[in-house]
Amino acid sequence: MASYRIALIPGDGIGGPVIAAAWAVLQAAAKAEGFTLAAESFPWSCAYYLETGRMMPEDGIESLRGFDAILLGAVGWPQTVPDSVSLHGLLLPIRKAFVQYANIRPHRLLPGVQGPLRAEGFDILCIRENTEGEYAGAGGRVHQGSANEVAVETSIFTRAGVERILRFGFEQARARRGKLASVTKSNAQKYSMVFWDEITDLLAADYPDVEVTRYHIDAMAARMVMAPESLDVVVASNLFGDILTDLGAAIQGGLGFAASANIDPTRTSPSMFEPVHGSAPDIAALGIANPIASIWSGAMMLEHLGEPAAAKRVMRAVEAVTARGIGTRPGQDKTDAITAAILSAVG
Ligand code: IPM
Ligand code: MN
Repeated sequence: MASYRIALIPGDGIGGPVIAAAWAVLQAAAKAEGFTLAAESFPWSCAYYLETGRMMPEDGIESLRGFDAILLGAVGWPQTVPDSVSLHGLLLPIRKAFVQYANIRPHRLLPGVQGPLRAEGFDILCIRENTEGEYAGAGGRVHQGSANEVAVETSIFTRAGVERILRFGFEQARARRGKLASVTKSNAQKYSMVFWDEITDLLAADYPDVEVTRYHIDAMAARMVMAPESLDVVVASNLFGDILTDLGAAIQGGLGFAASANIDPTRTSPSMFEPVHGSAPDIAALGIANPIASIWSGAMMLEHLGEPAAAKRVMRAVEAVTARGIGTRPGQDKTDAITAAILSAVG
């Protein structure tokens, strides 16, 4: 019987309850499909930072390396630890160290979910570059606190980095409806974004079956609202992808439905699966966090592990539950009630 070792990092705020929910559903799906999932849970979080002075131990990355995948809840508790410290101590180093260069975020309406748009029939796969670009971390500050203070933060785009994410986008488009939208801002940023466009055009020759269109980020933001059904795969740089995928979450009914996968397509290192929503301090104590984003991320994990039947089983259960109106409106149902409904549909 196949067996997979999963590292769980619930993290902060609603990360704990949503990961517990996702894990229960994934276990049920594994049981039904005849494989096993074994978890080791890591307490790394802002609370851990307050105790130890670090978000994860010095050998944290090494202790994750041997797992088949990582399931992460949320990182951040700005009341006690600045976000710039917590994110750079846990989430962002994992994405970079394991070269999880493709951040995949699906945006479509689950049955029964009322989005804010008139459009209903959209099915977008956003692919965000996840290791460099605007998140490269190259920069510094001088003359701090003085009137002469300077802050510099330089985006870094490498040929290898841009080419691999665009290739990944072309491959995904080929496996879906054959349309790739490449997003830049090359009318204003004449070095990095023109470079991205050039590589897009070069690679297009290798994928004659994919229809590729270049968009500027501002126009893409409008298109995702006005004509989301015209889009299939959307590929963008780290920051542009970050922003577009919160927009994607909004049009799919909210962050409670937004799933994501941080993938190392070479499979050298474990990939990491996480809901897009973050720790949500405002509702963390209320028991109303929607576990669907985490459960959907867990389904993406099963797919990545090579268990597509189990992944489908999880998504069918989620869809059967939302079709009945359960978990479809923020705050309407308790986390536990949504999870129980999905659990009974999954088995
Ligand atoms: C996300 C989040 C993170 C990001 C933050 C918390 C650093 O917004 O996963 O989209 O920007 O990557
Ligand atoms: Mn984000």
